[in-house]
Amino acid sequence: MKKKAIFITIEGLEGSGKSSVIKFLHKFLRLKKFSVKIYREPGSTRIGEKIRNILLDKKNKELSRHTELLLYLAARTQLIEERLRRDFSKYDFIICDRFFDSTLAYQGFALGLGQIAEKGVKMFSLGIEPEITFFLDTQVKVGLKRLKNKDRIESRPLSFHNKLRGGFLRLAKKYPKRIKVIDASGSLDKIYNQIQGSIVKKFF
Ligand code: TMP
Repeated sequence: MKKKAIFITIEGLEGSGKSSVIKFLHKFLRLKKFSVKIYREPGSTRIGEKIRNILLDKKNKELSRHTELLLYLAARTQLIEERLRRDFSKYDFIICDRFFDSTLAYQGFALGLGQIAEKGVKMFSLGIEPEITFFLDTQVKVGLKRLKNKDRIESRPLSFHNKLRGGFLRLAKKYPKRIKVIDASGSLDKIYNQIQGSIVKKFF
């Protein structure tokens, strides 16, 4: 039978500690002898990394919000067509550091592109949807304080980041089966336990 990887995405506010959660999850799944592939968005392909540089470069002040949306979608489509589709038959688990919920929250809610972002996501995710998504929720100000050398998106005003959190929480309400909200202000052990518990319950 053809293998079909379980697709997990990790979403979060700025400075919410996604990287350490991904490292933990990777280690946990590898200990259980699963094959695991990790990607990040935008990026993880040669073209996607170039797009990422355009998107995050603080010098690109004139980048319009519609162009921003299109670039995030373009990076994602490249990742799906170049890597993800192929990898679904090669790995047990694929973990992606951000995916389309970020577009819905950042461009859809926080930048106000609403339905255009929704339509774009639908068209250019090419039918790929995560089985489970962890949203790492933190206090906006606490997360932002953790950042050094803020990029173009991180440098946006507090009001943007507050809207962003509201956007993610609305998505979690809309898709309660898929999106698990994790209180990322607690201890690492507590965060890891919640994530591990959800994975075990759903997939083992
Ligand atoms: P990262 O720094 O968490 O890797 O993500 C890159 C930045 O891009 C982060 O500020 C979130 C933002 N982003 C969007 O605005 N829309 C998207 O669709 C994605 C994937 C990321």
